[in-house]
Amino acid sequence: MEITRIRAGTRAPADIDAILPEILAFDLEINRAAGLEEDFDPIPDEVRHSLTSTSEYRTSVIWLGRIDGAVVAKGVAELRLDSDTDTAEVWTGVHPDHRRRGLGAALLTVMENDLRAKGRSALSSYCEIPQSVRNADLRGAHLAAETGAGSLPVALPEVSFLSSRCYGLAQIERCSVAPTAAAAELDLGTDADDYVIETWRGPVPEHRQEHIALLKRRLSTDVPGAAKFGGEESWDGERVRALDAEKKAKGESMATALALLGGEPAGYTQVGHSTDRPTVGWQGGTLVLREHRGHRLGARLKVANHRSLAANSAVERIYTWNAVENRWMLAINDQAGFATWAWVGLWTKSLR
Ligand SMILES: CC(C)(COP(=O)(O)OP(=O)(O)OC[C@H]1O[C@@H](n2cnc3c(N)ncnc32)[C@H](O)[C@@H]1OP(=O)(O)O)[C@@H](O)C(=O)NCCC(=O)NCCS
Repeated sequence: MEITRIRAGTRAPADIDAILPEILAFDLEINRAAGLEEDFDPIPDEVRHSLTSTSEYRTSVIWLGRIDGAVVAKGVAELRLDSDTDTAEVWTGVHPDHRRRGLGAALLTVMENDLRAKGRSALSSYCEIPQSVRNADLRGAHLAAETGAGSLPVALPEVSFLSSRCYGLAQIERCSVAPTAAAAELDLGTDADDYVIETWRGPVPEHRQEHIALLKRRLSTDVPGAAKFGGEESWDGERVRALDAEKKAKGESMATALALLGGEPAGYTQVGHSTDRPTVGWQGGTLVLREHRGHRLGARLKVANHRSLAANSAVERIYTWNAVENRWMLAINDQAGFATWAWVGLWTKSLR
């Protein structure tokens, strides 16, 4: 297998356009083999953007493995540049016709060696297992997550593969999906307090950028398991603006709900959606600051955001990911009509 590397933003756009169809076809093949349906199909503009753009906060590298010129394996590493510069999130995929021949292990070894040489030794990875696939093997041996919450069948290729490469199963997330209308119609009654919830779609308004920055900074440390996957992210108004510009370039739009008390931020939630797939929404971060918990703000924010999406967008369903030990968030989602769709294993490995 011949392996080439592409660091985002280092190749001419024409070179990227030449290999883009191969990458899209490969990603589609991997998704179908994993049981992921059309909602998860690669979006050309997003994939092109991930190969051509980099920012002062993040970048990515892809590795392509070819046999007789055809792409048979692909690796991706997402790299933070502003902080946690010793970390990398990696993923490896092998074309279904070429599995169990050592290609995945060979590619991941090359990726790890490249990353170690750049000082990236704290690795994380993930695998996504549809509910139907997990349920097909309920009686077989399972590997428990280090959090103590949840497990995955050891016989699954992704689980065996990452275990065999010495990754530890740190945490499990539940992926669930709900019709936008279900949460929008939820009647939470009225709360006799002074919290105000604002919603908007598109870029964060200028006078709210510092508020969103503060909430995103706190989100990076205040969700279960955050410490395992990197430290506090540095967010300010400028980074919020840069993220909005990046989303615009990718053809992605955000719907935001922000809770305020006396003009100060108390919590927020965001859902992203792409112009190329307007019926599908992706839940972004949700956080209620510790000092404001216990006022049902999580549910109130989600309902407000879903109402705003139902009224002003074509989004019909929303996917969300939550750590299985995050009971309070799962309870809110259950109430809002979310049904389990898949399980995601989050893995870590130290190269030190
Ligand atoms: C996971 C994946 C990358 C493995 O690729 P591969 O080329 O088949 O893996 P390899 O042949 O290099 O296998 C290396 C080891 O992984 C384990 N393994 C891989 N597939 C396995 C399977 N189907 N059953 C049991 N063990 C398996 C074995 O321990 C194997 O070593 P062995 O062959 O000496 O027993 C491939 O199945 C895939 O692309 N899955 C979808 C993408 C994905 O979910 N990636 C997540 C991991 S980052």
